[in-house]
Amino acid sequence: MDIILIAAITMDGYIARRSDEIISWSKDLKLFKEQTMSYPVIMGSNTAKTLAVELKGREQIVVQRNDNPKEILAELDVEKCFIIGGGRTYTKFAPFLTHLYITPHPIIFGKGIQLFPTLKKEISLKFIQKIIVAETDGVFQFQYKVIR
Ligand SMILES: NC(=O)c1ccc[n+]([C@@H]2O[C@H](COP(=O)([O-])OP(=O)(O)OC[C@H]3O[C@@H](n4cnc5c(N)ncnc54)[C@H](OP(=O)(O)O)[C@@H]3O)[C@@H](O)[C@H]2O)c1
Repeated sequence: MDIILIAAITMDGYIARRSDEIISWSKDLKLFKEQTMSYPVIMGSNTAKTLAVELKGREQIVVQRNDNPKEILAELDVEKCFIIGGGRTYTKFAPFLTHLYITPHPIIFGKGIQLFPTLKKEISLKFIQKIIVAETDGVFQFQYKVIR
């Protein structure tokens, strides 16, 4: 199964200013919908509270601090699933990721919630492709495969 992290990030690697921020600066919501449609989306409880859009047509799995990521993934019988945030949840699922879909945005926060706030082990990536999100604004999604 492909386990795909999908995130909009700032140029300095943040996904939000605060854990209760409703993300309004992301320009990749249309692409997010296309890519995740019909697949399970896994998120943390903070993200579940701050969703800017309804995630119709997708099984939504909200994880809490005591949930075991391996067990959650083992229950899925699908070709792919998406880890949609936030930082704590990206970190929790980091050892299991097969792909990263990252969309850097031309904005800098200086502080906030990092993509991986407490990552223990480096992740090596191989570039796959770039997808245009908003070309005139310089927003592209970069897709990588995780090398284990
Ligand atoms: N830019 C993007 O693409 C993007 C995508 C998704 C989300 N976001 C943003 O990310 C932010 C949320 O990220 P987040 O990292 O705060 O939350 P999160 O990953 O969405 O949810 C928090 C998770 O961490 C657990 N947790 C809370 N306190 C903990 C603790 N002390 N020790 C261990 N686990 C703990 C929670 O479990 P409990 O339920 O048990 O507390 C929950 O599973 C929001 O602002 C959201 O808008 C951005």
